[in-house]
Amino acid sequence: MKVPFLNLQTQYHQIKPELEAAVSDILEKCCFIGGEYVSSFEKEMADYLGAGYVSGCSNGTDALVLGLKACNIKAGDEVITTPFSFFATAEAIASVGAIPVFVDIREEDYNIDPGKIEEAISDKTKAILPVHIFGAPCDMDSILRIAKDHGLRVIEDDAQAIGSEYKGHKAGTIGDVGCFSFYPTKNLGGAGDGGMVTTNDPDLLTALKAYKEHGAGKAGAMTMELQEGIREELKSEEKETELYNPYKYFNYVIGYNSRLDAIQAAVLSAKLRHLDEYNARRAAIAARYFDGLSKKLRRPVYSADVKPCWHQFVVCTEHKAELCSYLSEHEVGNGTFYPVPLHMQKAFNAKNSRISGGSLPVAESISKQTVCLPIFPEMTDEQITYVIDTANSFFEGKE
Ligand SMILES: Cc1ncc(COP(=O)(O)O)c(C=O)c1O
Repeated sequence: MKVPFLNLQTQYHQIKPELEAAVSDILEKCCFIGGEYVSSFEKEMADYLGAGYVSGCSNGTDALVLGLKACNIKAGDEVITTPFSFFATAEAIASVGAIPVFVDIREEDYNIDPGKIEEAISDKTKAILPVHIFGAPCDMDSILRIAKDHGLRVIEDDAQAIGSEYKGHKAGTIGDVGCFSFYPTKNLGGAGDGGMVTTNDPDLLTALKAYKEHGAGKAGAMTMELQEGIREELKSEEKETELYNPYKYFNYVIGYNSRLDAIQAAVLSAKLRHLDEYNARRAAIAARYFDGLSKKLRRPVYSADVKPCWHQFVVCTEHKAELCSYLSEHEVGNGTFYPVPLHMQKAFNAKNSRISGGSLPVAESISKQTVCLPIFPEMTDEQITYVIDTANSFFEGKE
């Protein structure tokens, strides 16, 4: 039997008529940027998450950059984050000129260790950027308490956590902003790149809108006032009329071009209707893995406060390389996230990042041990059994 790591085609074929009707309507109307599909997706998503506002953007990396900019994170500021994530997490911090400060993770759930955050705070710290890695939310109560005590913003990296919950609240509605990716392999994946930022704060929404469209228009003017205290009144001869909007031609802050395309919004709206069903199937696969996999594979331990969306199923073993080869030889797709912790990436050094406490032993040890097993909604029961049997047969006779 062959079990791929992921199979996007099956899902596409299951909902092909819905996807194709929406995409062909957009092609017919030639309304590619903004418009009804983008605004209805943002509304549907806000309802799904229970978020005040949703603002679509080009991808998850931009979502983080926009979230940081909206929170007024500037060059030289420090942002506390995890070393155990995809590169984009720390890249986004560095790309707004700020310094990622890496704090070690917890062995049991691979998430940032809240007990180590306070010692990382300096007078330059402006925000905490927790990542709900593999779709399992961080200990948000502790993170929010620390943020409140020290006057810090909380920017959630929810790229892997769409539909996950912490104490009944959807990930992305807990911090100041939530940053999501719709990269095709995510639990909710587009037909290309896509992302969004969520917030409950209308001022942050204004700034998000400004930064994603070149800092232009009224959102730009309001952001300049909010963040720099500079109020730009329009001159009397520039009065706004029904036909002429003078704000439109002025840019008030330096932003980006980072919009969500209408075609992506349409695809995402169609898939959002199935997301709970997809995530429930992922949870059922995870339950079978917990039940059937050899105890010699160390599995994550999640708190009862947490409902993961099971973006990845990640186990740990000292025999990582041999197990991965064995699974591949037996045609079981597998992966290893993340073999290089972010503080050890070539792009980071002592000038553009900081390692809290000088070393991050848990992240370094976990990154040598993780094996990701296939977990996607369209997996058959036979495929799940085959993955379990194959992994268990590797451990027969091993310590
Ligand atoms: C944890 C995390 N953060 C950020 C990103 C960046 O998202 P994107 O690839 O859409 O830019 C990803 C996804 O790839 C991710 O997994």
